[in-house]
Amino acid sequence: AGAGKSTIARSLARKLGFTYIDTGAMYRAVALWALRVGVDLDDLHRLEQLAKEAHIEFKAGETTVLLNGEDVTAEIREPRVSEAASKVSMAPGVRRAMRKEQRRIGTAQSVVMEGRDIGTVVFPDAQVKVFLDADPQVRAVRRAAENGGDVGQIAREIAERDHRDRTRGEA
Ligand code: DC
Repeated sequence: AGAGKSTIARSLARKLGFTYIDTGAMYRAVALWALRVGVDLDDLHRLEQLAKEAHIEFKAGETTVLLNGEDVTAEIREPRVSEAASKVSMAPGVRRAMRKEQRRIGTAQSVVMEGRDIGTVVFPDAQVKVFLDADPQVRAVRRAAENGGDVGQIAREIAERDHRDRTRGEA
């Protein structure tokens, strides 16, 4: 979180004339839907159903995210959705549904695809892979400048989310 993945991937895609795909936005969209309909974030079966049914599209130069036809671009960036996305993405069925969709998109065209498991799981034979990281303090300062909030509190949330994302069983 906050390492600069989106900024760099977007800029690279523009230069190459490739389509930019933000896979975190896909997990965020599923998480938002789960929050809205009140699905328990531990209910793996219901989460998988939502992930399979979710209609996620990227519009307008890939910056706009539509969930079932509705523009959710701003809402999926809310901290409560970041938190939920990190949890929802632990569900193997959700990952399976997202992976299938990501492979479909990336096989049909040239893409710069951004996300934690793209080089390892989704496209292990990708022509180019980039691993990006940054100092936790720097990442927290960036997020605070983007969304406001207390740097110390944000640093703790990022650390917690990183830990969950890095130690989950899958991907
Ligand atoms: O990159 P991001 O902060 O928008 O991602 C939100 C969450 O989605 C992140 O905490 C983990 C999950 N995610 C994932 O598990 N795999 C991906 N390829 C992208 C995101």
